Amino acid sequence: MLKIGVLASGRGSNFQAIIDAIESGRLKASVELLVVDNPSAFAIERAKKHSIPYLYVNPKDFGTKDEFYQKIADELKSKGVELVILAGFMRVVRKPLLDAFPMRVMNIHPALLPSFPGLHGQKQAVDYGVRISGCTVHFVDEGVDTGPVIIQAAVPVLPHDTEDTLSERILKYEHKIFPEAIRLFAEGRLEVVGRKVMIKDYKGEEDAVIINPPLQSS
Ligand code: GRF
Repeated sequence: MLKIGVLASGRGSNFQAIIDAIESGRLKASVELLVVDNPSAFAIERAKKHSIPYLYVNPKDFGTKDEFYQKIADELKSKGVELVILAGFMRVVRKPLLDAFPMRVMNIHPALLPSFPGLHGQKQAVDYGVRISGCTVHFVDEGVDTGPVIIQAAVPVLPHDTEDTLSERILKYEHKIFPEAIRLFAEGRLEVVGRKVMIKDYKGEEDAVIINPPLQSS
């Protein structure tokens, strides 16, 4: 069974989606440790409710960012963690953690990367005026939201959308694709080749399409 570690800074709804996927048997994995960088993160309540060990690591306790990430890497390793999940962890992960888990750190981003990386991906999409946005699960490298893409979900951006309404529409699919990406990893079906992620036994649906606004005539 795949042992995962989760890093979170806030609400933790993606963490909850992963817990739910595990508890329903859809995802064969176990969360060995939740690490938070914020002592009031609601993710802690979720960990308590599901008897998942958690740890608050205060970045201010460390002289350098690298020492902070080394501490997190050591804690995750000591729990036997094989895959690290960034579930709303609001920091750029650095080398000590990435070296300890090479192509074994996954992040979710609320936009269709490489569009709108960094903070407020949903607001960036609304402000830009794109008709389609979505979310992306990717492996983490040293850049900001630049690592190899595993799975994406696309949703329409509607005329009346605000950052909040688009965020809500996207979040629904974040909760579906993050557990799915972990499931593909747990089944040993992901292979990173250069900057691409190959998925074993996946051929794709040639006719899958989202058009927004929808075609009025055929
Ligand atoms: C999500 O929108 C995720 O895409 C982004 O941070 C947010 C975290 O939400 N990286 P939650 O803490 O999982 O509810």
